[in-house]
Amino acid sequence: MKRFVYHPVSVGSLVPSSKGLSGLITSSPKLSSANVIVELGSGTGVFTEQIMQRVKKDTLVFAFEIDSLLAKMTQDRCPHVVVINDTALNLIGYLEKYYVKSVDVIISSLPFAGFDNTSQNMLLETIFNALSEGGEFLTFTYLYNTFLPGGRRFKEIINKKFLNFTISKPERSSFPPSVVYDCIKHDRDKKTEQQKKK
Ligand SMILES: C[S@@+](CC[C@H](N)C(=O)[O-])C[C@H]1O[C@@H](n2cnc3c(N)ncnc32)[C@H](O)[C@@H]1O
Repeated sequence: MKRFVYHPVSVGSLVPSSKGLSGLITSSPKLSSANVIVELGSGTGVFTEQIMQRVKKDTLVFAFEIDSLLAKMTQDRCPHVVVINDTALNLIGYLEKYYVKSVDVIISSLPFAGFDNTSQNMLLETIFNALSEGGEFLTFTYLYNTFLPGGRRFKEIINKKFLNFTISKPERSSFPPSVVYDCIKHDRDKKTEQQKKK
């Protein structure tokens, strides 16, 4: 809670994510077959713990957390995860460092709705480029954010980038209630984007 008081935009939440929400965002069947998984904004490590319960023994799991104290909390909670105390914007550089070509699943807690247009676009471009063909990107947002300008802009950017994009029913066990955005990357998404630019 103290971290939220000092950094409300980047932390984005007063309390750790609920069990219901962590169950929903980590329920993808792809988790159990994935070779590489990335979590963005791991916070206290609630989702990280759930992810680790669903993966194969040899799955490489990275967790990015910009706040050093929270990064340490994730690492203490999940010793087998490669925790990176840096911004998610540097994801591609770290993948290269670890000789990882692409990521099968990206799970995000980043408070996208509070980010400006440039940050939203740059982060989504990074995520899109990191994913393998057929890779999955899951992120949650508070239901009220979907009505606010930052949240609506974020949804529009996702919609343009990922043709295969679904939204869950509201998860009411979490406070405030949240929805999970579930996006699958297809190469045709990229082609459509390039065609639009021409
Ligand atoms: C909503 S909170 C995390 C919730 C987490 N699931 C939990 O239960 O603790 C969002 C997290 O994203 C982190 N964050 C914000 N911007 C970031 C960035 N650019 N790169 C990495 N982490 C970031 C914040 O420090 C914060 O811990």
